[in-house]
Amino acid sequence: MWWMMGENGGHYCSKKTDDICGDVCGQQDSGRVLSMSRIKCILRGVDLRTMLFLFILVPTCVYGIYLHGQKISYFLRPLWESPPKGFNEIPHYYNENVTMENLCKLHGWRIREFPRRVYDAVLFSNEMDILTLRWKELYPYITQFILLESNSTFTGTEKLLYFANHRDQFKFVEPRLTYGNIGGRFKKGENPFIEEAYQRVALDQLIKVAGISDDDLLIMSDVDEIPSKHTINLLRWCDDIPQVLHLRLRNYLYSFEFFVDDSSWRASVHRYKMGKTRYAHYRQSDDILAEAGWHCSFCFRRVSEFIFKMKAYSHFDRVRFKRYLDPERIQKVICKGADLFDMLPEEYTFKEIIGKMGPVPHSYSAVHLPSYLLENADEYKFLLPGHCLRESG
Ligand SMILES: *[C@@H]1O[C@H](CO)[C@@H](O)[C@H](O)[C@H]1NC(C)=O
Ligand SMILES: *[C@@H]1O[C@H](CO)[C@@H](O)[C@H](O)[C@H]1NC(C)=O
Repeated sequence: MWWMMGENGGHYCSKKTDDICGDVCGQQDSGRVLSMSRIKCILRGVDLRTMLFLFILVPTCVYGIYLHGQKISYFLRPLWESPPKGFNEIPHYYNENVTMENLCKLHGWRIREFPRRVYDAVLFSNEMDILTLRWKELYPYITQFILLESNSTFTGTEKLLYFANHRDQFKFVEPRLTYGNIGGRFKKGENPFIEEAYQRVALDQLIKVAGISDDDLLIMSDVDEIPSKHTINLLRWCDDIPQVLHLRLRNYLYSFEFFVDDSSWRASVHRYKMGKTRYAHYRQSDDILAEAGWHCSFCFRRVSEFIFKMKAYSHFDRVRFKRYLDPERIQKVICKGADLFDMLPEEYTFKEIIGKMGPVPHSYSAVHLPSYLLENADEYKFLLPGHCLRESG
């Protein structure tokens, strides 16, 4: 028992009443107990164990919520957010020994007399290796590569013009390259999505400079969302493809050793319409083409590049603790396939959240990866199964 009633039912005292409390509680007849004494009495009434319990439990709870608040809200996501509307999934047919005429027909499309021109436009940050893989993969079918970079990250910190500084490594695209750079606005404390939107508007201008015209294909995707070359070849050769088509890509984390799922959908291909098509990276149509390429997130060669990306990221709020940026921790997390930000999976049902908790399992398949990667495996070992160690610095 923590509490005992006084005989008149008005005063609470603990079993272990000491003199003061006893005195106060003892004044059953006076009825004029000073309120200060009454509070003291009540406080005394609370057992020491209870006090300790409260003083330890409450701060522990608060600290726990501080540490894991994001996890708690992610875990409860199914309660406050319903999944986005499903896509109209277009089955994707491909084998290298099937003619283009038959491939188009399998999709319900007709073959064209000549292929469409294709423009590939990206906003570049620092993904040098992934950019090389992307451009080598798509090179045979691209009319113009368009690349825009800024001296500001989306989070408004200064960055180098990495592409301009390493342009000599990309001589192979030079005849087909439209390059632009843009000064950041460096607005502190602003939502990073605003700087991102600003850079995308500038990219729209650069696409026009590159000479795009109506019904040319325009690929809108992040650098690390790489459509496979046969996908782009199919879309440039077939008539009647949707005006706007999302691409379902296989999601990988850190390298092609960690296959996450095939839920990446943001990349899209547009039949360009002057004055109407706007560069965007959100849901723009209901149609999506199955298995159309790869999305390799955080697929960097050096640990320093991970740190840069973690800081420049639009979700910078995820870097809640300095230790997240510790190189040793980052290397360990990569080899385990765990989450850099110690977050829960972003899913919409409890079943999926629970199913995806914990590290991404290792994959031992390197089949159907970008051909340039396999042809140059020595140079890109860190992207292949069994090679999780990164260059330090
Ligand atoms: C597949 O195509 C290649 C050339 O593209 C040809 O050499 C080969 O014989 C074809 N294989 C089959 C089974 O048709
Ligand atoms: C960013 O680039 C713009 C335009 O090129 C330039 O005016 C500005 O000084 C640069 N800012 C920094 C911090 O480098």
